[in-house]
Amino acid sequence: MPLEERRLGRTGLILPELGLGAMDTPQAAEGADTLRAALDLGIRMVDTARDYQGSEYLIGHVVRERGADFCIASKTFSRTVNGSQADVDRSLAVLGVPSICLYQLHDVSTQRDWEQVMAPGGALEGLRVAQFRGLVEHVGISSHNLEIAEKAITCGEFDTVMLEYSAFYTESEPLIELAARSGIGVIVMRPLGGSGRMSTLRTLNSRGDSELTPELLLRYVLSNPGVSVAIPGARYPDRVRRNVALCRDYEPLTDAEKRRCERAAEALYQVDAG
Ligand SMILES: NC(=O)c1ccc[n+]([C@@H]2O[C@H](COP(=O)([O-])OP(=O)(O)OC[C@H]3O[C@@H](n4cnc5c(N)ncnc54)[C@H](OP(=O)(O)O)[C@@H]3O)[C@@H](O)[C@H]2O)c1
Repeated sequence: MPLEERRLGRTGLILPELGLGAMDTPQAAEGADTLRAALDLGIRMVDTARDYQGSEYLIGHVVRERGADFCIASKTFSRTVNGSQADVDRSLAVLGVPSICLYQLHDVSTQRDWEQVMAPGGALEGLRVAQFRGLVEHVGISSHNLEIAEKAITCGEFDTVMLEYSAFYTESEPLIELAARSGIGVIVMRPLGGSGRMSTLRTLNSRGDSELTPELLLRYVLSNPGVSVAIPGARYPDRVRRNVALCRDYEPLTDAEKRRCERAAEALYQVDAG
């Protein structure tokens, strides 16, 4: 069964609802196999960044080897017009592709960041130049700050917004709805709650000590119709296989199941914090 597809907001791209976060993928010797597994199993979006050490390089290696068609989403941490253009140029060289599907302003999470990237001479202007030159197809933003994310969604400048959302972190739910209504693609980062919590959860699961599983957490995120694509991170190919297997055959959670999942996540958080 193929992966279900969703529209990435006003980009018009129709992509499988499961993507891959490649932030930590290069940290494992199996990283290239993880990317190959993703491609073989029908994943089409891979998220990376100039800042993720070795990630663009590894993706470029696999894309060239396969002649493959990932929609690559990269990011710049630069806040200036020249810096963001230089980052796009470096990304293109390292990835070895003629253009990049989506380029995002990375972690715009303070008012100062926001003012810098949006000002004349700011990083958004650089991405617009890159877009005009045909080097970048769509422009997005990622943020860990809900107020900034709301401004990003309502200002009309961005095609996509990357938000944290999971059973551990539900505060972004109203913004997901707002983005979906505004035609902005919603990319969900940290859909499993991050590597620290996942490590705790894997230990608990191996002892049968938590009803939460990676599959349940992923179902939670994908049960939200406002989400365009979830990008669980993975270093190992088996994680990708498990996530694809879940996504090929799942029922959305009911509201009662979602609340139960949130309570289990809260309990895990207390274990994690303790
Ligand atoms: N824009 C930003 O500021 C920002 C910030 C954070 C993250 N992100 C993006 O979001 C992506 C995901 O975030 P994240 O990696 O921090 O958190 P995450 O996706 O919530 O969790 C990743 C963790 O889950 C594990 N995992 C994945 N599938 C699993 C499975 N089926 N069974 C067991 N464990 C599984 C991974 O294991 P292994 O790694 O051991 O395989 C890794 O430890 C990143 O890769 C990045 O692209 C963006």
